[in-house]
Amino acid sequence: MALVPFDDRDGFIWWDGALVPWREAKMHVLSHGLHYASAVFEGERAYAGHIFRLRAHTDRLINSGRILGFEIPYTAEQIDAACVETLRANNLTEAYVRPIAWRGTEMLAVSAQHTKIHLAIATWEWPSYFGADRMSGIRLGMAEWKRPSPETAPTAAKATGLYMIGTLSKHKAEAEGNADALMLDWRGLVAESTGANIFFVFDGEVHTPTPDCFLDGITRRSVMALARHRQMKVVERAIRPEELAHATEAFLVGTAAEVTPVRAIDKLSFTPGRISETLMKDYEALVRKDPAEVARVIG
Ligand SMILES: Cc1ncc(COP(=O)(O)O)c(C=O)c1O
Repeated sequence: MALVPFDDRDGFIWWDGALVPWREAKMHVLSHGLHYASAVFEGERAYAGHIFRLRAHTDRLINSGRILGFEIPYTAEQIDAACVETLRANNLTEAYVRPIAWRGTEMLAVSAQHTKIHLAIATWEWPSYFGADRMSGIRLGMAEWKRPSPETAPTAAKATGLYMIGTLSKHKAEAEGNADALMLDWRGLVAESTGANIFFVFDGEVHTPTPDCFLDGITRRSVMALARHRQMKVVERAIRPEELAHATEAFLVGTAAEVTPVRAIDKLSFTPGRISETLMKDYEALVRKDPAEVARVIG
């Protein structure tokens, strides 16, 4: 597959308050964010021209910055408006939206007290394909890296540095013929995949790990609400890897993954079934509702 490089495309990227031509959106190599991972970002999706749960993503972005000790110099209203403006400027309706905030070049040392905080927003076409194909499910390998304790890293932030072990785990999984990796946490409990949360079905109930050292995903919360609307029992709890042999279904949820059934984790097999399919379809319908209706459903 020929890859179109991300730095050589048509379109516009929002950068510190203005739309700049895509190819000119370049930052200096001595940016603190590059050297010391002082950067936070979001991953959002637009469906039919609306960014799904935009304010929840914007609030998380601002909060991720605060966890890393910086204040993004825009209000939530301004960031929301900038995301929508970027989508429109690129004439996109089915798209991925990537805001990123980082520390600039004023200081290049561990201490970064006087760095300027930048914000950029890019968006690119990304249609979603729900349906029969997705129901065949994906394979996950087991990651060797563990999600760190919240005493070891700022695990509630969507911070770039936390993705270092994600990339390593995903590369190993792909080299072994899997779509992604299942990561355990520092205690050996089931955590999530490298870019999505995970759910299991045990005895007809929907169980998902308690997000105490990884992202409490926006999709995760939406899917839990959808399951409760269907009168399914939803349980957040510590899940040990040995228990997975008793799960009948498994599925990933995330902005990019949406609801994706899992058919194997290492040597364990699952049969994507009624609960995965129901929640996949309910989510597919939810993302296309107008924002007021989404808020009513999610609560
Ligand atoms: C590591 C990780 N976990 C979980 C998620 C799911 O989060 P969300 O549903 O908010 O996209 C993501 C995606 O952002 C992620 O990168």
